[in-house]
Amino acid sequence: MKKFFALIMAALLLAATPAQAQSSTVHNADNAAELAGAPVEKFYASLPKAKGNYKSRVRPILIEGAMNTETEVLIRALKNPAAYRELNYLFVAGTYENYPVVVVRTEIGMANAAASTALAIKKFNPVAVINQGTAGGHDPALHIGDIVIGERTFDQTAYKSDYAAAGAGVDLTRQEMRGAYAYDQTSGTFKTRKEYFPDATLLKIAKDVAAANDNFNVVTGVIATGNIWLSNIDYISFLHETYGSSCEEMETNAAAQICQNAGVPFIGIRVLSNNITVNKEYVPATGTIAQNFVLLVAEDYIRDVLKK
Ligand code: 5AD
Repeated sequence: MKKFFALIMAALLLAATPAQAQSSTVHNADNAAELAGAPVEKFYASLPKAKGNYKSRVRPILIEGAMNTETEVLIRALKNPAAYRELNYLFVAGTYENYPVVVVRTEIGMANAAASTALAIKKFNPVAVINQGTAGGHDPALHIGDIVIGERTFDQTAYKSDYAAAGAGVDLTRQEMRGAYAYDQTSGTFKTRKEYFPDATLLKIAKDVAAANDNFNVVTGVIATGNIWLSNIDYISFLHETYGSSCEEMETNAAAQICQNAGVPFIGIRVLSNNITVNKEYVPATGTIAQNFVLLVAEDYIRDVLKK
């Protein structure tokens, strides 16, 4: 009788588990994120359209997010928002803490992040760029909802594979990471570059915000970027052990590269929406956590650096 009762309770508990936790795996990740963001489109469409070119007495902060789930909190936080479209990317300019801030929805992937960052730099002349959003964990010690402040970012797909003869099989770990080309101020030419580092002031402020707010679980770590979603645990472990990657996503390094080219201070901040090294759960709603954290970083940057 006791056993039967326990069985009923277990069945009831299982039924009460949110559908997302049961059915969603990393394979339908993009769909889930899109569905979660669908109603936001209406809100974005309702934003007042900007008239003429952007004019601001001081240079704005540019905050980037790839998807609706990674931009809605930021855009709703803007006062007097005005929407711009360039090559179909959405930019919303307004103020936050009485200081000009522009939010761009970069769309997903490296080319989109690079293009929208370059357009935003030309159009808005930002004083700094904060790229933020969700990521997948490479470090098994990290949990969904944890924030990674990028102390370094690299392109995890920018490698040359070692030679392997026909029939020798595929061993992805036999590779040499090479990076791509970025502008080098000293030589005045584009040179290969494997990694990018955040602006020291933004990094310090982000760490201070983390230390002052226990409601966020924050580490500093390494953000690996690529137009790729890895689900192969052995390969992820290889990247984590060889290059120290904390998490992976699809935009940070591309935006950092453009900021390096343009000489604009940059930082990447990511929240874990999944960590396949631990389980198959995917929680796109974590996007709000990174946005709320980044708003605190922006607030302190405005108060302690830009308004001084
Ligand atoms: N791998 C790659 N990209 C991820 N993203 C979240 N988790 C991952 C992951 N495990 C982010 C990317 C992209 C979108 C698919 O979500 O940055 O914008």
